This record gives sequence, structure tokens and C-alpha cells, in this order.
Amino acid sequence: MREAELRGDGLRLRPPRPEDAGPVLAACTDPDTQRWTRVPVPYSEADAVAFVTRFGPDQWATGAGAPFAVLDDGTGVLLGSMGLNVIVWADRRAEVGYWVAPGARRRGVATGALGLMAGWALGELGLERLELYAEADNAASRRVAERGGFTLEGVLRGRDLHRGERRDMVAYGLLATDPRPSGSPAERW
Ligand SMILES: CC(C)(COP(=O)(O)OP(=O)(O)OC[C@H]1O[C@@H](n2cnc3c(N)ncnc32)[C@H](O)[C@@H]1OP(=O)(O)O)[C@@H](O)C(=O)NCCC(=O)NCCS
Repeated sequence: MREAELRGDGLRLRPPRPEDAGPVLAACTDPDTQRWTRVPVPYSEADAVAFVTRFGPDQWATGAGAPFAVLDDGTGVLLGSMGLNVIVWADRRAEVGYWVAPGARRRGVATGALGLMAGWALGELGLERLELYAEADNAASRRVAERGGFTLEGVLRGRDLHRGERRDMVAYGLLATDPRPSGSPAERW
């Protein structure tokens, strides 16, 4: 799959690069990132290096997924990660995953990055459905999904086994035919 680069809302999304390993390590050792996402725990420097040098490039090359590093478009500082984690081409659908570095939270980074990626995924990439699973008590992530125009589709009881505990997950979906969230630029999808 051809690598993409997306810009808007003061953000730049591009595939992860080797120089991202340090900031990725810092963000993925944050307790909230470890609590709510499926990053390895404990998270090592080798995990960060593997993500940016092997996993990311492989995902893009095979079309299995589309991970983006989210940067401040002005400073180039890495603010987070936003990606299509699983693309099922036969169904034209993909699953979305994200985290934002602790120091960059609560200023619209996840909402902006999700809007940009969803616009690309449902537009240029040609997907027709995006899925997003969040733990039922992950208020921040649920709000990001809602701000992104996703519809709450149900609660999947005990769906995930995460750090030894079964977790209830809420499922959100966004179809290419759904209306854009209010306030988003027309070009989003
Ligand atoms: C979830 C996460 C990505 C949100 O990123 P963010 O850039 O801070 O989100 P935004 O600034 O775009 O905020 C989006 C909405 O969520 C709300 N929000 C953000 N953090 C919140 C929190 N801790 N509690 C409640 N609401 C929160 C914001 O107020 C905003 O809602 P509003 O527009 O109604 O005010 C970030 O908190 C994070 O990385 N958490 C750990 C990893 C994680 O949970 N990943 C998702 C797994 S499904």
C-alpha cells in the first residue's frame, strides 16, 4: 500500500520513522497508555524500535494496517499515534487505534488526528466502515469516538483479555455514508 501523509488542524500525520523511537518509548511507558491500550507491558526500548523500524513499515508494505505518527505540524514534535490497526480489505473495513503523549492530551490532538485519518480512510483509501473499540470506562477515548462522528453500536461483554482481566468493550462504528461531525471541513470524507 502506498504510504500517505496527511495535514490539517495544525497536525501532520506520516508513517512512523526511526527517529520516533524515543518519544514512542516515553508515551508507551505512561501508565494511562498501558492501562487503556494493548502496548506491551513492560514496554522496552526494543519495543519502540521494533514499532518504528519493522512493524510500521511492514504494515504499510503489506496493506495489513496504516500506522501514523502524529506530529505538531509547526514544531515537528511527536504528539501521538493514530492508525488503522487491522484492515480487512474483503469487507472494506478497518479498526482504529490511538494514543496521545501525556503532555499533549486534552487539546484536541486525538480528535483532529482521527478526523484527518477517517477522511483519508473513507475517501482516498476506499474503505467503507471504521470500527473503534474502547474499554467501557475509558471516558476520554469514548469522547474522542463521539467527537469523530462514530456511532455507539453496542457493549461487547468481556471481549478482551487485557493484563489478566476480561474487559467489557464498547463498539463504535463509522460508515462512509454517515454524516460528518459538525464543524469538520467538507473534505474530510
Ligand atoms: C484517549 C486519548 C487518546 C485522548 O486524546 P486527547 O488528544 O487528549 O483527546 P482530545 O483532546 O481530542 O479530547 C477529545 C474529547 O475527550 C475529552 N477528554 C479528553 N481527556 C479526557 C479525560 N481524561 N476524561 C474525560 N474526557 C476527556 C475532551 O474534553 C474532549 O471532549 P470535548 O470536546 O467534549 O471537550 C488520550 O487520553 C490517551 O492517549 N489516553 C491513553 C490511551 C488511550 O486510552 N487510547 C485509546 C484506547 S481505545
